[in-house]
Amino acid sequence: AIDIRELRAKTGYITFDPGFSNSGSCTSTITYMDGAKGVLRYRGYPIEQLAETSCFVEVCYLLLNGDLPSRAEYQRMSVMLNDHSLVHEDMQIFFQNFPRSANPMGILSSMVNALRSFYPELMTTEEAIETTFLRLISKVRTMAAMSHRISRGHKIVYPRPDYSYCANFLNMMHDSPVRPYEIKKEFVEALNMFWVLHADHEQNCSTSTVRAVGSARANIYAALSAGIAALWGPLHGGANRAVVEMFEDIRKSGGDVKKAVKRAKDKNDPFRLMGFGHSVYKTYDPRAKIMKKMCDKVLAVANTEDPLLDIAMELEEVALKDSYFTDHNLYPNIDFYSGIVLRTLGIPVEMFTVMFAIGRLPGWIAQWKELMDDPFKKLFRPRQIYVGETMREVLPIDER
Ligand code: ACO
Repeated sequence: AIDIRELRAKTGYITFDPGFSNSGSCTSTITYMDGAKGVLRYRGYPIEQLAETSCFVEVCYLLLNGDLPSRAEYQRMSVMLNDHSLVHEDMQIFFQNFPRSANPMGILSSMVNALRSFYPELMTTEEAIETTFLRLISKVRTMAAMSHRISRGHKIVYPRPDYSYCANFLNMMHDSPVRPYEIKKEFVEALNMFWVLHADHEQNCSTSTVRAVGSARANIYAALSAGIAALWGPLHGGANRAVVEMFEDIRKSGGDVKKAVKRAKDKNDPFRLMGFGHSVYKTYDPRAKIMKKMCDKVLAVANTEDPLLDIAMELEEVALKDSYFTDHNLYPNIDFYSGIVLRTLGIPVEMFTVMFAIGRLPGWIAQWKELMDDPFKKLFRPRQIYVGETMREVLPIDER
């Protein structure tokens, strides 16, 4: 076998792989993807089974510990998540001083980094490691709901120990003294499924960012804060918001989906069909199939219709009949239908990418842990192909 490092040292040979789409940056036991067949598994379990049968807390346990929890393990984890659900009261002032128009992803990234100042203890024991992980999973959810409430000028709703992880989030977002929030079992199930589908996706842009920052041995809060910043981008997690905004634009301009499809094919137009295409899946994203079914379910429970679902389905149909999309292997990804589920749960569009971040958190943490436990871990340091000036002399400033 060729030792690539030896070869590079001897020859200066460098692999050119922009975006690293054909480079393995690590070995991993967490998530398996087959992009050609549309397969996704966490720790060996098919995403379809997990989405159907497991709640988000079980999937957090699975990603962090390698297998699904027993009932006792699940109960212990639920108690710990409740114990760590409150946010330090001194942090409230940070939230209150962001401008009302601040993007919740910027707030979340800053606040996760700030958490480190409140919990500076080192992760030197198994107990401290577990506490840090569960603290993050619980508090990020509380902080997300807090930032939403404050942005609306509403009083914060505290987490309740008698509610599950997902029910608590919905209650913290929506409860009001004038209209107490009625928790619908089906909405809690939908949110569980939404977060299960987002929980990990191997070495995507934000996860690779978490690993890159972690590889410099920066603390976990800094690594996750950087991951959230990467997720914010519209080509990555920000796509769920961009999709719904695209559907809205189509609706407002008369519902002509063919025009959007035509624009997406025009190489002189920067417009892309948001929620279509994926770096790894070259077929239908298996998560999008599940999300699509969930749209009908939640809309039926809410006893309502969403005109954006009609636009989405028509857009999908028209695009998939067009050879441009099939020739380029462009199919709906998870973000194509997820916004319709979120809207039905009453989540405002500016919170969509935050919802993705809460879901991806256990994946990022599991990947960070795997990196830290890897005896062969290396500092992330890709090379480049230099194409700039060759050697030249510096001229005195008056001669330039
Ligand atoms: N609409 C129109 N054309 C597209 C689209 C799209 N959504 N996506 C890719 N293409 C075209 C490109 O123009 C390019 O065409 P060409 O070869 O004729 O020049 C070709 O398909 C390949 O595109 P790349 O950007 O090189 O493909 P890549 O696999 O790197 O891109 C990405 C993946 C970034 C997701 C892309 O498909 C995209 O921009 N999609 C829209 C944004 C989106 O939905 N992002 C969410 C992804 S899922 C997630 O991160 C959670």
